[in-house]
Amino acid sequence: WRVDTDPYRIWISEFMLQQTQVKTVIPYYNHWMRDFPHVQDVANKNINVLLKYWEGLGYYKRLHNIKNAADMIMSEHNGKIPIGNELRALPGIGDYIYSAISSIAYNEPVPVIDGNVKRVSSRYWGKTFNTQPEIKNLFILLSQNIDKKLPGDFNQALMDLGREVCKPKQPLCEICPISTFCGSYQNNT
Ligand code: ADE
Repeated sequence: WRVDTDPYRIWISEFMLQQTQVKTVIPYYNHWMRDFPHVQDVANKNINVLLKYWEGLGYYKRLHNIKNAADMIMSEHNGKIPIGNELRALPGIGDYIYSAISSIAYNEPVPVIDGNVKRVSSRYWGKTFNTQPEIKNLFILLSQNIDKKLPGDFNQALMDLGREVCKPKQPLCEICPISTFCGSYQNNT
């Protein structure tokens, strides 16, 4: 899904990635894209056929949302993944997926907030981001700092940093590219 920014491919990958680890998703994603390269391929298929491609990924509600959304995209959006409020209105689109698709596929400067981003930000700014008001504050902070030219890369870089470097336990601060500016690192917290 990093090969290009085709909204359909980003949409499917982010649904798969929402509850599942990257390394688990990759073979499912490749298999899916080989046989369903366009949104109409999903709309044309029976749910039982699609289920075979999802077997083992779990959280099957995601697949039903994909199928229902694909039907809507074909009937109401000319086969194109919509942007803005129309995107948000599709089945299964919450804050996270909305931001991921908007930023990665459509270059909108909307920050993504997932567990990795919360942890990186919390350490970086030396603040907790747990409650709703705190998360709203995080959204504002990230909106002020997101790369306006490459918001999708910024969001994905933060997620990658959280997963690969700024790990929950034993973070790899020695190789972290932003440790110089990191509150927790500088204050040894
Ligand atoms: N986790 C979920 N979506 C991701 C993405 N696009 N890049 C990195 N990690 C992710």
